[in-house]
Amino acid sequence: MKDNAVDTVASVPVAVVGAGPAGLMLAHLLGRAGVEAIVVDTRSRREIESTQRAGILEAGTARDLVETGVGDRILREGHEHEGIELRFGGRPHRIHFKELVGASTWLYPQTEVFIDLADARARDGGTVHFGIRDTEVLDVTTRAPRVRFTAPDGARHEIRARYVVGADGSRSMCRELVPQERRVRYGKDYPYAWFGILAEAPASAPELVYADSEHGFALISRRTDAVQRMYFQCDPHESPGDWPDDRIWETLQARVAGEDGFRLHEGPVLEKTVLRFRSFVQEPMRWGSMALAGDAAHTVPPTGARGLNLALHDVKVLADVLLRALSGAGDAVLDEYQPRALQRVWRAQNFSSWMTRLLHTAPGATPFDRRRQLGELDNVVGTRAGRAYLAEQYTGWPSGSPA
Ligand code: PHB
Repeated sequence: MKDNAVDTVASVPVAVVGAGPAGLMLAHLLGRAGVEAIVVDTRSRREIESTQRAGILEAGTARDLVETGVGDRILREGHEHEGIELRFGGRPHRIHFKELVGASTWLYPQTEVFIDLADARARDGGTVHFGIRDTEVLDVTTRAPRVRFTAPDGARHEIRARYVVGADGSRSMCRELVPQERRVRYGKDYPYAWFGILAEAPASAPELVYADSEHGFALISRRTDAVQRMYFQCDPHESPGDWPDDRIWETLQARVAGEDGFRLHEGPVLEKTVLRFRSFVQEPMRWGSMALAGDAAHTVPPTGARGLNLALHDVKVLADVLLRALSGAGDAVLDEYQPRALQRVWRAQNFSSWMTRLLHTAPGATPFDRRRQLGELDNVVGTRAGRAYLAEQYTGWPSGSPA
């Protein structure tokens, strides 16, 4: 990389690498407090908008988006869900969140959250560079970190900042900047993946259906009245090309079938993807003048619908800490970030891996494993404490608990 060939230099308090919901929400929160942040992303806006991600917001996340002026569409177009259905042994069991813990969730896809935040940045005059390449994050252990990149038009840019935030997703380059001997990575792979589809069909159920069956897990979610999102457990090496529509529907129908005669409405499959997942945390979440947020620092399997909520919780804490650091408190307050973010992260790690194991059948599971698992499902739906546990974890924890 040519070091002297920079066409444009910008100086701002905060540079953010990654224009997903975490990066954009951070810039939005800082912007509301009068602090400018420039956000960069290697992907184009179109690319981010057309990548399917999960779709569940905790009530607290939805409230934060609404209260900061980026949630109007959630209230207009999102769907408030007061519970979920767990199916196993061919029977439906409703977990009534509202009744159990007084909370609900919102079905509102992550891509829509992204669109709302990107529109808000444009409306508020925030700078976001999409489609960049040759990103370099420099000098993070000094008080003058820099981000250099090539814009789509070929111009070389440099952002000089006081702080850099790595919100660059599960394949983060920023997290690599924490030296190997100073970082710890905790992780766990799963011996299964999700086969995700988008289908043009009417909704089959009013709320999400999480189904355990002899054939493996399935999840019935939705996108719009006419387009549905569904997943089923598959081998991580499965190839979407081997799955004609008929085979997909046969698989999904078998996994949700039951004595109540429940059947999915079928239709043309618009998209097929195999989604691998893992549980992952990197500590520390801050290194010098750089902080990591969202998937860059931690990922969870999608079963508990925690990922986006955790990322937005990170940046809520981070915005608070950065604003205080920038208004005179200095670097010392940055030490608050990791403990305040991580408590929720590890709670979510536990819940996500618990719910994943609760509902998936591992290859090689013995008949004992399988019966024990059904016993656990029975304990969850058959006791008030079990239902309340699931409800409380799935809907998130009240703000301030954990802190
Ligand atoms: C989705 O709608 O894509 C979705 C919902 C709940 C999950 C995961 C994904 O747990």
